[in-house]
Amino acid sequence: MPQPLLERIARSQNWLEPTADWLQKLVTGIYSGLGGSGRQLKSLLNGTFILRHPLHPALTDVPIGAWTVGVIADYAAHFTSRIPESAGDIALAVGLIVALAALITGYTDFMDTLALERRFATAHGLTMTLVIAIDAVSMFLRWFAGAGAHPVAVALSTVGWVLVLVGAWYGGHVVFGTGYAVNREAFLDGPSDWADAGAAADIPVAGLHVAEAGGMQVLLVREGARICALSDVCSHAGGPLHEGTLQNGIVQCPWHSSRFRIRDGRAVGGPATFDQPVLEVREVDGRVMVKLESPLH
Ligand code: FES
Repeated sequence: MPQPLLERIARSQNWLEPTADWLQKLVTGIYSGLGGSGRQLKSLLNGTFILRHPLHPALTDVPIGAWTVGVIADYAAHFTSRIPESAGDIALAVGLIVALAALITGYTDFMDTLALERRFATAHGLTMTLVIAIDAVSMFLRWFAGAGAHPVAVALSTVGWVLVLVGAWYGGHVVFGTGYAVNREAFLDGPSDWADAGAAADIPVAGLHVAEAGGMQVLLVREGARICALSDVCSHAGGPLHEGTLQNGIVQCPWHSSRFRIRDGRAVGGPATFDQPVLEVREVDGRVMVKLESPLH
């Protein structure tokens, strides 16, 4: 089956790989340099603490909408006398300001991409960075170069708007085409009724234990006298939580270091923004019985 043109372009551009390597090292280095607060800041920008959904796609709606209004206002001002020239300038400025926040959150999410999703995310990020640069030049011309430069500024922001459509296509493809940042629990099945998850004696006093119950991989952890159970599949990108680390009641995913509270599955560190599904637990004759606290879908 033929692939869409933009997908074929991104797949054929091998220079995107070393560029992605370089960009990921740069962004990782910046967050590492910030130490513990960098980790908190990254979770904030991922959306773990605010929306509890990815923050980047929510922000991108503003510049796309503002720039669309801006281009329409530019041409309406040029061809009619109903709108002042400043209307397009203001819309462009609003888009630019929020686009900078979207840029930061986007490169933050980009840190944790890999393989094909990383290829499309690189195409998306570079296109949007180019758009911001073009629109920044347009903004400069509008505000500092006088009325004579206005037509050039309008032409630049029009080119920027066309490129936004390309960048938005790649952004959509990262999520809908490769499944990046989609809650991995959305497609899982789990026990809606009590299911056997093995012998209680197999669960270590301190440590992570995985068992299969009702068609689901379940992470079992002791917290004092209590046994806690979560889906073992990390909601961020499907990492196996039982291969991660456990500290102070928090399990850390081995793949991108998302952290979840054992007692209630709460995501307390990104890049995950969705909580882990929790299972109720009871012991019957030395066996651990589990069932989902609420349906997954
Ligand atoms: S799979 Fe990415 S943090 Fe778990």
